Amino acid sequence: METYVSQSFDKNYAAAWSSDQGGFSYNLAQNLMEYINKNKKPVKTALDICCGTGEFLYQLSRFGIVGAGTEVAKSMIDYSQEKYPNMKFTLTKEIYDFPTKGKYDLVSCNHDMVNMIEKLSNWKELFVNAYKSLNKGGMFVFDFYTKKKLENWDEVIFEESDTMDHVKSIKKGMDNKTIMKEIYYMKNDEGFYKKTFDIIVESYFENKEILNTLNAAGFKNVQFCDFSLSPVANAEERNRVHVIAIK
Ligand SMILES: C[S@@+](CC[C@H](N)C(=O)[O-])C[C@H]1O[C@@H](n2cnc3c(N)ncnc32)[C@H](O)[C@@H]1O
Repeated sequence: METYVSQSFDKNYAAAWSSDQGGFSYNLAQNLMEYINKNKKPVKTALDICCGTGEFLYQLSRFGIVGAGTEVAKSMIDYSQEKYPNMKFTLTKEIYDFPTKGKYDLVSCNHDMVNMIEKLSNWKELFVNAYKSLNKGGMFVFDFYTKKKLENWDEVIFEESDTMDHVKSIKKGMDNKTIMKEIYYMKNDEGFYKKTFDIIVESYFENKEILNTLNAAGFKNVQFCDFSLSPVANAEERNRVHVIAIK
């Protein structure tokens, strides 16, 4: 994966992606802080798995949370390390395979990164590593596209911004896979475009299987939530589910 991801991305891509977040990390961090304050969770440290350009960690740092990140793309690490020299970023071979030496109050893995993990056994590896990395009472927060969303997704999306135009075509793949082909046209300072692409394979599982896998990894207190991190009763009806799992 690393070879492929490294070939597709460079620092220009990281910069374009960073400015094209659409407020996702900003709003999610706000919602998380509301949850933390409401539930009196003493969160001082965070580890963000596959942290991209470090946006989410940056948003957390505004609330005094000290962050570290892992990434599978070296270009993203280079970009984030330069932008946030005080944070520690670690390159990992796989999303789910990261060092568990540190103990954190929060482990996060946002933006359907888990769907990029093909096998449920490797989702379990991620969950086990997250569990091991947490202090007692710590929170593991992640989101995933549900089977309901991915199994019928057939769409071409075009998004335009000041820095990057983005064409995304999404089709059902084999078995429990959905294929996303993305082409990015990034504008440089002289107004020229540079083209890069990505092919992402996302896998889906039943919500129940995901819950059982979290339980098997040690998480007994698990809530399925919406983007505002309020619990939802109808997770089966949803396209994306945010999970809060407490150690
Ligand atoms: C959508 S960002 C998410 C980053 C971060 N979690 C966030 O919320 O901003 C995309 C990340 O997915 C990883 N990625 C992109 N294409 C991939 C692929 N084809 N296979 C596996 N990982 C990929 C990259 O390392 C990149 O950091």
